[in-house]
Amino acid sequence: MELPILKATDGSDSVGLGPFLAKTGLTTFDSGFVNTAATKSDITYIDGDVGILRYRGYPIEQLAQKSTFVEVSYLLIYGELPTPEQLEVFTNKIRRHTLLHEDLKRFFDGFPRNAHPMPVVSSAANALSAYYPDSLDPKDPAQVELATIRLLAKLPTIAAYAYKKSVGQPFLYPDNSLGLVENFLRLTFGFPAEPYEVNPEVAKALDMLFILHADHEQNCSTSTVRLVGSSQANLFTSVSAGINALWGPLHGGANQAVLEMLEDIETSGGDTAEFMRRVKNKEDGVKLMGFGHRVYKNYDPRAAIVKETADQILESLGVSDPLLDIAKGLEEVALNDDYFIERRLYPNVDFYTGVIYRAMGFPTRMFTVLFALGRLPGWIAHWREMHEDTSTKIGRPRQLYTGYTERDYVP
Ligand code: MLT
Repeated sequence: MELPILKATDGSDSVGLGPFLAKTGLTTFDSGFVNTAATKSDITYIDGDVGILRYRGYPIEQLAQKSTFVEVSYLLIYGELPTPEQLEVFTNKIRRHTLLHEDLKRFFDGFPRNAHPMPVVSSAANALSAYYPDSLDPKDPAQVELATIRLLAKLPTIAAYAYKKSVGQPFLYPDNSLGLVENFLRLTFGFPAEPYEVNPEVAKALDMLFILHADHEQNCSTSTVRLVGSSQANLFTSVSAGINALWGPLHGGANQAVLEMLEDIETSGGDTAEFMRRVKNKEDGVKLMGFGHRVYKNYDPRAAIVKETADQILESLGVSDPLLDIAKGLEEVALNDDYFIERRLYPNVDFYTGVIYRAMGFPTRMFTVLFALGRLPGWIAHWREMHEDTSTKIGRPRQLYTGYTERDYVP
């Protein structure tokens, strides 16, 4: 068969076999379609057929077990795991920037009490551009570094304030004797002038969940961050765009949708087999949320770790949650049913996370915010990687025009 040969749109890379590759599901790189159709990256490797995920070459299972979220953030952003000295410097820099400007704190007052925390968080992240004009220039490495540290330090404070705002409670000042995750837990659940005991099991589990969410190559929010950043928009604004992309129920909002689905099943009697029957028959638009993934045609390696953590954390908190049993029941039905096996539908990262967050005391509306906190180092790493590559052009998705060719205007 004669295969057509295509040239890259900028004429540089001969990519060849375009239509054939598209048809067979294979992909090719064309630097002319920067940031969307094709992106080169050294950060995260996924093999969806096998179920492999690695950050900078390190398997996610090892990082989840042996590293902290701050170490993984360093790894994603700078490419190597930090030495103890590098980690101390990095941690101290983050500590110094956890406070929010007092004027920015008042910004939260402008939102209605029942506002979903995601738009509050993305607005406040974007507003950092207005408060820190000394960290906006993507071409100045010192400014990029300052913006990186400021975001890592301030997003947990912003997220906790969005929560406090939604429950009508006063804001706390960060306690910089605490680590990043401990500080976030205290800012979220503590009260001013009252001692707050961080539960180490909860802090450890949340730290690990952040690691699992820290990057996932060209997902919707990360490619948004790259695309917005490719216009030379500053890091705060680009990350804010990523937070908005993450909010959707098909992306970061999926863990909220899973929990709502589990609650509905519980309310209607908890019959998992009956629910799965309705899913298969597509009855009343019933959907199995948290199952299947665009990339994974095997078990999402993150979901396996989250499932194990769900059991551990619930046990250590001394709580049992019927929703966890329902989730496990759904998985069991799916793994033994040809319908799901043939379609290679397995639990993804969102399937069990909601149950853990709920056990930790987070309301459902905060679930996507927690995803955003975890994904932050990945967004930053991608934005920086794109800017470090001096050949990067502004993103411009390729369009296949499908409308009229030409029409005569007849008034
Ligand atoms: C993610 O972690 O971003 C989600 O699994 C979605 C994706 O990778 O496309």
